[in-house]
Amino acid sequence: MIMYFLFITILLMFTFLWFRYIYKYFKNNCTCAVSLVGKVVIITGANSGIGYHAALEIAAKGGRVILACRNEDKGLAARDRIITATGNSNVVYKHLDLSSLDSVRRFANDVIATEDRLDVLINNAGMYGSRGKYTEDGILEGFQVNHFGHFLLTLLLLELLKKSKPSRIINVSSILHYYGSIRTENINKIVTNDLFTYINSKLCNVLFSVEFARRFQGSGVVCNSLHPGMLDTEISAQANFFVKWVFKLACWVCYRTIEEGVQTIIHLAVSKECENISGKFYMDCTPRYLLPNARNPFVASSLWDLSEDLVGYKTYANMSQAVKITD
Ligand SMILES: NC(=O)c1ccc[n+]([C@@H]2O[C@H](COP(=O)([O-])OP(=O)(O)OC[C@H]3O[C@@H](n4cnc5c(N)ncnc54)[C@H](OP(=O)(O)O)[C@@H]3O)[C@@H](O)[C@H]2O)c1
Repeated sequence: MIMYFLFITILLMFTFLWFRYIYKYFKNNCTCAVSLVGKVVIITGANSGIGYHAALEIAAKGGRVILACRNEDKGLAARDRIITATGNSNVVYKHLDLSSLDSVRRFANDVIATEDRLDVLINNAGMYGSRGKYTEDGILEGFQVNHFGHFLLTLLLLELLKKSKPSRIINVSSILHYYGSIRTENINKIVTNDLFTYINSKLCNVLFSVEFARRFQGSGVVCNSLHPGMLDTEISAQANFFVKWVFKLACWVCYRTIEEGVQTIIHLAVSKECENISGKFYMDCTPRYLLPNARNPFVASSLWDLSEDLVGYKTYANMSQAVKITD
């Protein structure tokens, strides 16, 4: 028995080592030397992890960067570090708490009142481990932060994005969405475990992008989703020991630095070839095949309708304008 376990352990170790070695060859960096001077980019959850490093790269390309964060101290500290590192002083912090739709509306109104344009909206903020908690808006927190809050934010900023066309929306999803399954009638009713909430919220990010591309085709605004790689950030901080351990192992096997991980975001934000691509899912700067769960038009459309109902914001049938239905 001991020999058997020893054999399995050694076999697994060699498999992981081999995979880690092979995986680095799938790495792809964004090589576009594009200047973003004159462009405005919003990044949610930009005070740490993936969002922070994406903001750093965008600022280095000269763009005006709006760090949309829920914690003022962390947001201001990130702003200062980015300005010092890049020499670009056109970096600002604005408060945004995605677990409150009121905060989302206030943030969007502020942006509309103060910005002339919006070229790229990067819906990056995310959380794991809401433990079945509902927000003040009556939505499961994990779904609201990861999907519904960003959904409302996007619709509220849509006219500004259209005015600034060609413009881009980038939804930071995860490869874990492959395991997701959405039943819209249950999405906000059943308190599933944290892992399923996370996986399904990441599937929502992909379905949102697919449906946006269909509804707003020809609008000059494109919308894509992506997996940044398995990156050792704070995302698993609230996870239980087992999930944390599996996450750390996955980060080690599929090793990428955070700087490498943000390359797909930067590629979608700046590359010429992505200017007219919409509704796709990217990994390592390359569009990837979508499984049926992430491209089912009926599910994508039902999720859109449910999202409109839950956030109280409706798009017109002709898709050219959005209108608020409740406060
Ligand atoms: N790391 C990975 O391996 C991985 C893999 C696939 C996808 N992703 C996705 O990548 C995105 C970024 O995650 P990360 O890995 O960089 O994790 P992270 O370091 O934990 O960053 C998450 C960011 O989201 C912010 N956030 C959380 N709740 C928020 C709220 N209610 N309102 C506004 N902002 C909020 C956090 O702010 P605070 O600092 O205030 O908490 C933080 O800035 C997430 O969408 C995640 O699902 C990550």
